[in-house]
Amino acid sequence: MKALVTGGAGFIGSNMAHRLASKGYEVIVFDNFSRRGTELNAKWLKEQHPGIVIVRGDISRDFEKLYDLVRECDEVYHFAAQTSVPVSIKEPLADFETNILGTLNLLEAIRRSNSDCSLFYSSTNKVYGELSGAKIVEAQHRYDFVDLKKGVDETMPLDFQTPYGCSKGSADQYVKEYAKLYGLKNVIFRLSCIYGPRQLGLEAQGWVAWFVIAALLEKPIRIFGNGKQVRDLLYIDDLIEAIELALQKKYFGEIFNIGGGKNNSASLLEVINIIEEKTGKRISKSFYDWRAGDQKVYYTNYYKAEKLLGWKPKVGIEEGIEKLIGWVKANKDYLAKIYS
Ligand SMILES: NC(=O)c1ccc[n+]([C@@H]2O[C@H](COP(=O)([O-])OP(=O)(O)OC[C@H]3O[C@@H](n4cnc5c(N)ncnc54)[C@H](O)[C@@H]3O)[C@@H](O)[C@H]2O)c1
Repeated sequence: MKALVTGGAGFIGSNMAHRLASKGYEVIVFDNFSRRGTELNAKWLKEQHPGIVIVRGDISRDFEKLYDLVRECDEVYHFAAQTSVPVSIKEPLADFETNILGTLNLLEAIRRSNSDCSLFYSSTNKVYGELSGAKIVEAQHRYDFVDLKKGVDETMPLDFQTPYGCSKGSADQYVKEYAKLYGLKNVIFRLSCIYGPRQLGLEAQGWVAWFVIAALLEKPIRIFGNGKQVRDLLYIDDLIEAIELALQKKYFGEIFNIGGGKNNSASLLEVINIIEEKTGKRISKSFYDWRAGDQKVYYTNYYKAEKLLGWKPKVGIEEGIEKLIGWVKANKDYLAKIYS
């Protein structure tokens, strides 16, 4: 089997590429290395699997390259993206190009060259917007839903907000439509917060890893809002397992909300406490205004995935954060350079 992993030098992509190569797949990574530090992941992949092919290219500009690569593949995993909400607000056109045009390029490459090839698309919970209709209660350390006690499922109406929400949401709908109209073998996951090793977290995206890196490199963090905002956290290995199950079970054309769920939800303040306890470091933090599009609470209702895929998260927040800390410690010198 041969697989193309776009964004394969990034966090989720490098973990997916590793998993596929470990199973004996021929793997091609396609990435433009625009995310700072991703050379670390590419180098690690090459060390683990010398046969992996790494192609430098831009998903929105290199259609011919994509066309040729897709033609020889059985499966495509699409993770290349502009992944940050604040960056999308500063640079909406670049965000549009990578997230919408890039995804459309990939869909067209598959449709024209190899329509039998399956496609996994990583969408986001941001397609549901701020959930401003949901009633929320404020407790000492966290917000919670009043009515949505099991979390957000796939029936929640779409409400694109911020350029990132618009671009990822449009691509999500294109991927869905290409499955319906052209019969492409596409699966879509709307992801909550994914975290784990090889995540080069930043203030603007990948906050769990950013907080761990900041703690260990003794850097201050900024919190936008009061820190009581709640997210559900999903450890990377659990995500990879869900992706594999959805493709094996051929749920083409389907959309799944995937995240850690209510049992793996925590506020920023609660996650900071866990990190401080496990690293023995105090994180210096200051508070700023809320950021546009920031949901006060979001956690996934993954009932559909549980029922159809027989999947649920296995790694709890404490265990997952410990593994992430282990990776940051093992790569501290390199990270110190790129975060200096
Ligand atoms: N990590 C999360 O919590 C999360 C949550 C929701 C959705 N997602 C989605 O999952 C996917 C992967 O996210 P991630 O956390 O691994 O992000 P990441 O930034 O670590 O990985 C994205 C990769 O894409 C590459 N890239 C960016 N623009 C490109 C372009 N124009 N052409 C080719 N490569 C390009 C980057 O260099 C990077 O290696 C993204 O589509 C993201 O929107 C992630």
